Amino acid sequence: MADDGLLFVCVGCCCGRNGHGGALAPAGRLKSAARRAFDAAGLSGRVRMAFTECLGPCSESNVVFLYLRGRAVWLRRVNTPDLFGEVLRYADEATRNRECALSPRLRAHSFSWTGGGIGPKPPVPDGTSS
Ligand code: FES
Repeated sequence: MADDGLLFVCVGCCCGRNGHGGALAPAGRLKSAARRAFDAAGLSGRVRMAFTECLGPCSESNVVFLYLRGRAVWLRRVNTPDLFGEVLRYADEATRNRECALSPRLRAHSFSWTGGGIGPKPPVPDGTSS
């Protein structure tokens, strides 16, 4: 069975660095926590997750890009495991239901970049995400 979506988690030059707005652990710890959460979410076989070098919108830091059933979603400041868990729940739902909408919380972290997305174009002022 082919995957229905892609989930790219940026661990490039700026994402995961405190000085760039992404108050997260070093990339190695972030990766293992994200892998555990991904495995626990049961997305394997439907969504392929990969860690990437810089995706481009560095000002948004801790960038996650989803491409699910032809729909691009860019998320910024994915700074907590709890928020990453919400991203995974959205991916789960969106691969089951094509019309799945972003939750208000994810919508507040959403922006537009290469390939589409929902929301403002970078740089997005802080205070627009929670
Ligand atoms: S380092 Fe993540 S977008 Fe550039």
